[in-house]
Amino acid sequence: MAKERTLMMIKPDAVKRGHIGGVVDMVEKNGFDIMAMKMIRFTKRTAGEFYAVHKARPFYDELVEFMSSGKTTVLVLEKENAILSLRRLLGDTDSQKAAPGTIRHKYGTDKGQNAAHGSDAPDTAAFEIGYHFSGEELVRL
Ligand code: RTP
Ligand code: MG
Repeated sequence: MAKERTLMMIKPDAVKRGHIGGVVDMVEKNGFDIMAMKMIRFTKRTAGEFYAVHKARPFYDELVEFMSSGKTTVLVLEKENAILSLRRLLGDTDSQKAAPGTIRHKYGTDKGQNAAHGSDAPDTAAFEIGYHFSGEELVRL
């Protein structure tokens, strides 16, 4: 299978608790190649734009509030089957249900404050990578 790229975000809860290094360590140990990485601070407007697909969901306002509450680390990761592979490493959306060995089990708190994000499909990965990074910011091998 060809290599694939996905967008990961280490969310404000995990950044505030000092878990950037711990999450990146799990990502590297699981064979992902980091192609871009930076720190950002979402505003309510940009968090709302990024999560626009969830606009009709009951948790949308809480999500926008949470994602704009502190710094976020955004990464572009490359691996074979990267999108599904990262979602497996993240674990269940609800950190309380996430299996041992997953990022959310180790660093998440609950369903909202769940430490990290991963794109869920090729079209959303393309949108999310393009949202955060220009072509020049992505490493070319
Ligand atoms: P993500 O997009 O962050 O990787 O998470 P996901 O696919 O596992 O979950 P998704 O359904 O896309 O939800 C996006 C984020 O919204 C928050 N959420 N809160 N309180 C709730 O019921 C609830 N449900 C979702 C979480 O931060 C979730 O990751
Ligand atoms: Mg999602």
